[in-house]
Amino acid sequence: MHKITLCDHPFIQHRLAILRDRHTPVNQFRIALKECGTLMAYELAKDHPTESVTVETPLESTQAQRIEKPVVLIAILRAALGMVEGMAEFYPDARIGHLGMYRDPKTLQPVFYYSKLPVDLNHHPIILADPMLATGGSIVAALDELQKFQCLDAVKIATLIAASEGIARVREKYPDVPIYTAAVDRQLNEKGYILPGLGDAGDRQYGTA
Ligand code: PRP
Ligand code: URA
Repeated sequence: MHKITLCDHPFIQHRLAILRDRHTPVNQFRIALKECGTLMAYELAKDHPTESVTVETPLESTQAQRIEKPVVLIAILRAALGMVEGMAEFYPDARIGHLGMYRDPKTLQPVFYYSKLPVDLNHHPIILADPMLATGGSIVAALDELQKFQCLDAVKIATLIAASEGIARVREKYPDVPIYTAAVDRQLNEKGYILPGLGDAGDRQYGTA
């Protein structure tokens, strides 16, 4: 079973404080979410395979390291959109897939409505992004979809706030998929919201509450 990686760099934690604050206006929320995506990408890339390439400096030729294969970023709609935009700053050649789903407010089960993924998924590192891992239903549904392409061994989950219940649910079905998160929060409330959390990430990002 893969361990959880806690992304506790002060740059990330500072922005997480902005995201959690109920007084943060929508424009600041978007900026902080995007910046968290960029900073998380830095943490996620630490073990990306690199290849040796020859480059000419102004003085002589030398060997340098380059990321071997472009990554695939996958955003779970809607909340991951800003986060993935931030990740793409470090991965300008990334291909980006989208999985559309929302939670039914009564059952808390994900309702899947859209899937558009790059071809050739199983030859690239894949980052599956969703800022909120609450019950875990959405991430599990996304992994169910990715499993059809036999690419799960290349997938890392990137989230900002994870509840212990959600982590347990993902681990129960997909124990080998690594989870990167900026925080593990205490619990879910009766409506499936993370406590203390940050509220509804999609609504706060798009001003739809
Ligand atoms: C939010 C969030 C996750 C999901 C997490 O999406 O972005 O996708 O809830 O909850 P879970 O772990 O219990 O599945 P939401 O359903 O609010 O959809 P939206 O982003 O389109 O508003
Ligand atoms: N989705 C959110 O956006 N926030 C939560 O706290 C739980 C699910």
